[in-house]
Amino acid sequence: MKNTPIERRLIDETIENFQIADFGKATIREVKAIAAKAEAESGVEFIKMEMGVPGLPASAAGVKAEIEALQDGIASLYPDINGLPALKEEASRFIKAFINVDLEPEGCVPVTGSMQGTFASFLTCSQCDENKDTILFIDPGFPVQKQQLVVMGAKFETFDVYDYRGDKLKEKLESYLKKGHISAIVYSNPNNPSWICLNEEELRIIGELATQYDIIVLEDLAYFAMDFRKDLSKPFQPPYQPSVAHYTDNYVLLVSGSKAFSYAGQRIGVSCISNKLYHRSYPGLSKRYGGGTFGTVFIHRVLYALSSGTSHSAQYALAAMLKAANDGQYNFLDEVKVYGERARKLKEIFLRHGFHLVYDNDLGNPVADGFYFTIGYPGMTGGELAKELMYYGVSAISLITTGSNQEGLRACTSFIQEHQYAQLEERMAIFAENHPVI
Ligand SMILES: Cc1ncc(COP(=O)(O)O)c(C=O)c1O
Repeated sequence: MKNTPIERRLIDETIENFQIADFGKATIREVKAIAAKAEAESGVEFIKMEMGVPGLPASAAGVKAEIEALQDGIASLYPDINGLPALKEEASRFIKAFINVDLEPEGCVPVTGSMQGTFASFLTCSQCDENKDTILFIDPGFPVQKQQLVVMGAKFETFDVYDYRGDKLKEKLESYLKKGHISAIVYSNPNNPSWICLNEEELRIIGELATQYDIIVLEDLAYFAMDFRKDLSKPFQPPYQPSVAHYTDNYVLLVSGSKAFSYAGQRIGVSCISNKLYHRSYPGLSKRYGGGTFGTVFIHRVLYALSSGTSHSAQYALAAMLKAANDGQYNFLDEVKVYGERARKLKEIFLRHGFHLVYDNDLGNPVADGFYFTIGYPGMTGGELAKELMYYGVSAISLITTGSNQEGLRACTSFIQEHQYAQLEERMAIFAENHPVI
């Protein structure tokens, strides 16, 4: 056995000190903290792939608009709870320009990141009908969204979509929906962690079932248009970002400033409620609030109670970024394409050293290269692989934490620096030698 780049004892002791019994279940923050400690003590640089934080400069158009708004004195004023009119307008145009869906500005509601958008949506959806008290996750997914439901004491169910792609999705979804207890379905597309993209056929299945069973679809577009296999960057021109909005009226689209515009720090996004859903009243909402529609409850009750609106200056920033994108003056995807290039290089190195991609295709087409990818190694569980790679100075999270049933890891490309490909190459060569595949 060749020596590993980091002494095994150092990693084992650090994990022990954190009192983590099963490394496969370690959270992103725990993996990050252990990697940071091992890095400091060993002096060996880690290749950090556990965090999904944008690694690029924030969009300049946003920063400029935000500074100007602050200089104009908007910081002293409470923002309009409905949202800055200019932002609502541009968000509505953005949905038309990049999804080709008509949605009134009224339904485009600023939130402090998509995280707040899902929190407010989960709450509102769970209160519509007292018989529908459970949220269904099409997993794998973003672990914090389940944490949100734990925090609010609401129920959820989940399944791993791995074995239910294409028309198999229908029967699987119906097995939950026919019980009558599901209020909403949530998924991200492109997907965190697997980077699979549900296609039009799958979105049609979800949309049609949502209408049939009268449930709401929460479509998390945190990685908007980042399926780099297609050029989705041209406003008002096909191809468009695929969306369930073409197949049902029961939807909320969650658009985030964090990844597409590298604007995570300012906590800004828009929740886009369909025209029909916005104006719909529900018995559960009328009983609890004495009136209101889905849209007005979402804004004037739920968001009002949560944060009384969204940071005023950040709304100016997002309005400016969306406007520049809508006007075709700013190709936001050019700035984030680098994630795809990194994924391509990293995957190539891993695959050459005996690893395989776990979620490797969208109904026969190889998954896109993007923000995340998933890897496994023969004969190792996700937990074993996550721990083993730590000895080689590579940190990533096990897929178990994302609601996946597959054995492997999620790797994020956002922190990778140019010199680290050579590092990974060298370390994975030792890894492969130490773990011959029989
Ligand atoms: C699928 C998904 N949804 C939502 C978010 C959070 O978005 P925001 O920063 O807008 O709250 C993330 C961030 O990692 C994500 O991966």
